[in-house]
Amino acid sequence: MSRVRDFTGHPFWQAVLVLLGAYVLFAYGVPYIPPLLGAPSAPVPASVLFQYMAIVTVGVLLHVSSDEARWRRFKQPLHAALVDRDKRWVRATLGVVLPLAFGYAAYAEARPRVDAPIQLRSVHPAPPGQITVRGHALTLAGLENPLRTRGSMAEHLKEGKRIYYQNCLPCHGDRLDGQGHFAHGFSPTPASFADNGTIAQLTESYVFWRVAKGGPGLPREGTPWNSAMPVWENILTEDEMWAVVLYIYDQSGWKPRRWEATVEEGKNPAGQAQPTTGPKAGGAK
Ligand code: HEC
Repeated sequence: MSRVRDFTGHPFWQAVLVLLGAYVLFAYGVPYIPPLLGAPSAPVPASVLFQYMAIVTVGVLLHVSSDEARWRRFKQPLHAALVDRDKRWVRATLGVVLPLAFGYAAYAEARPRVDAPIQLRSVHPAPPGQITVRGHALTLAGLENPLRTRGSMAEHLKEGKRIYYQNCLPCHGDRLDGQGHFAHGFSPTPASFADNGTIAQLTESYVFWRVAKGGPGLPREGTPWNSAMPVWENILTEDEMWAVVLYIYDQSGWKPRRWEATVEEGKNPAGQAQPTTGPKAGGAK
C-alpha cells in the first residue's frame, strides 16, 4: 500500500499520470461529447490533439518546477535512470525502444499512401482560358497545333517519337495504354491514350495544356488526387510538346477533337470532353 502511495505521491509519476489521463480524455473522451448533444461523433484531429497535449505538458512542467523541493523530486527518477549503475537496464531498454519509436513515427509519416481519396476527381476539368508556357502567353480556345502547318510532318512525328520514348514511356507505356513500368506506382494511374476516353475526346490545345502544366497545373476539380503527371514545360520546349502531341495522336490512331465542330455545335467552348469523373485517369476498360 505504501509503495502505491510512494508512487502516486511522487511528482514525476503524477506528471506521467496526468499526461496519460489527458491523452485518453482528448483522444477517446472528447469524441463522445457530440453524440451527447445529438451530433455524430467526431474524432479529434491529430494537430488539435498535439496542441492540447503540448499545453498540458507546459502546465505540468510549470507545476512541478514552481516549487524547488518538488522540482528536485521530479528530476530524481530521470536522473537515476540516466546515471545509476543499477538502472543500466532502463538505459539499455530506452536505447532500443526510443530509436525504434522515432523510426516508426518517421516511417508512418513518410509512407506513401495509395488509398483512394474519398472525393471523386474530375478527369477532364475545364482548362484555363489562357496559359503562359515558358513565358509565352497562349489563348487555348481555338488554338491549333502549329506544327500541322509548318515543316515536314514526317520530321515532326520522328521528333515526337523520340520525345515520347525519352520522357513518357515509363508511365504511359510502350503501347500508349498507360501501362508503363512505373504506372502501377501511381494513383491516379497514367492516362491510356489507346482508350477512347482520353485524347480521343480532346482538342490538341487541351492535350498541350495538360502536357505543359501536368498534375500540378490541374484546377481544383482535378484534385485532391495528386497526379504524377510532370510539368513538361520545365523540360521540353513548346515545339517539342506540340511534336509529342502529334505523335500520340498519330500512334494511337485517334483524331483530335476539332475546334470547328465544337464551335458549330455551340457547346463545350472550352474544348474539353464532356466532364468525366471517376477514379481512373484513363478510364481503363
Ligand atoms: C511520372 C509518370 C508520367 C510521365 C513520365 C508522363 N505522364 Fe502523362 N500522365 C500521368 C498520369 C498519372 C496521368 C493521369 C492523371 C492526370 O490526368 O494528370 C497523366 C495524364 C496525361 C494526359 C492527360 C490525358 C487526359 O485524358 O486528360 C496527357 C495528355 C499526358 N499525360 C501526356 C503525357 C506526355 C506527352 C508525356 C511525356 C512528355 C507524359 N504524359 C509523361 C503520368 C505521367
